[in-house]
Amino acid sequence: MKKSIYDMLSRKGVLPVSMLTAYDYHTACTIDEAGIDMILVGDSLGNVMLGYENTLAVTVDDMIHHGKAVCRGAKNALVVVDMPFMSYQTSVSDAVANAGRIMKETNCQAVKLEGGAEYADRIKAIVQAGIPVVAHIGLTPQSVNMLGGYKVQGKTVEAAQKLIDDAKAVAEAGAFAITLECVPAALAKKVTEMVPALTIGIGAGKDCDGQVLVYQDMLGYTDGFTPKFVKKFANLHEVMLEAFKQYKEECEQRTFPAPNNTFTISEEVLEKLY
Ligand code: KIV
Repeated sequence: MKKSIYDMLSRKGVLPVSMLTAYDYHTACTIDEAGIDMILVGDSLGNVMLGYENTLAVTVDDMIHHGKAVCRGAKNALVVVDMPFMSYQTSVSDAVANAGRIMKETNCQAVKLEGGAEYADRIKAIVQAGIPVVAHIGLTPQSVNMLGGYKVQGKTVEAAQKLIDDAKAVAEAGAFAITLECVPAALAKKVTEMVPALTIGIGAGKDCDGQVLVYQDMLGYTDGFTPKFVKKFANLHEVMLEAFKQYKEECEQRTFPAPNNTFTISEEVLEKLY
């Protein structure tokens, strides 16, 4: 059964929600089979799928292309698709038009956008158009150039109060969930207790209403830098590297393909060829 935003909201204070990113059909199928509640087609696809240095180059068309594939694979999980940089910042009407395009063309259940009180008008208008919204505050990667890097947010009184004010503003505007990225755990707990929306943490401690991770990070897909908040539940990089090396070796040694990977033809047919 497809999970709804109301199924997710009923989990607040009852049972934490699990969320992972996905960007393709097969990963979405496997995440769905594991019973994960929500899938995020994150604009992190710019980094982890397309090899960009940050998320800024990702387009609405990129999000739709990957969002469609994920939605085809997610039979039960609620799918949220990110609104990329400059798809909602420019105006309320751009925000509604792009959110509408993303929902119509991908078949997702919600969109996510980065920003707090300053984007409450966008959130309100998108929700009024019938599109559920997840807000994203704390470390907002689309503002990396303003933030001066990927740092923990909300450490001073002013910054922590702004985070609380932002959470209240986006919840008031109608966001059913709020991603809290790189926020001290005690602050995330406070926010979680203060808003009716579900808080979904990434680097925000265990007291959020749910957790989200980039699936490549939690699978150990690469051997590059791993943020402190990531736990590697597998080491896929090692498994893949070993498999690729063994394949290369077997190609060169002609031990692959073996007879059971090979199609045959009768000698009789072969003999008639000239
Ligand atoms: O784009 C993304 O993957 C995200 C998560 C880091 C929450 O926004």
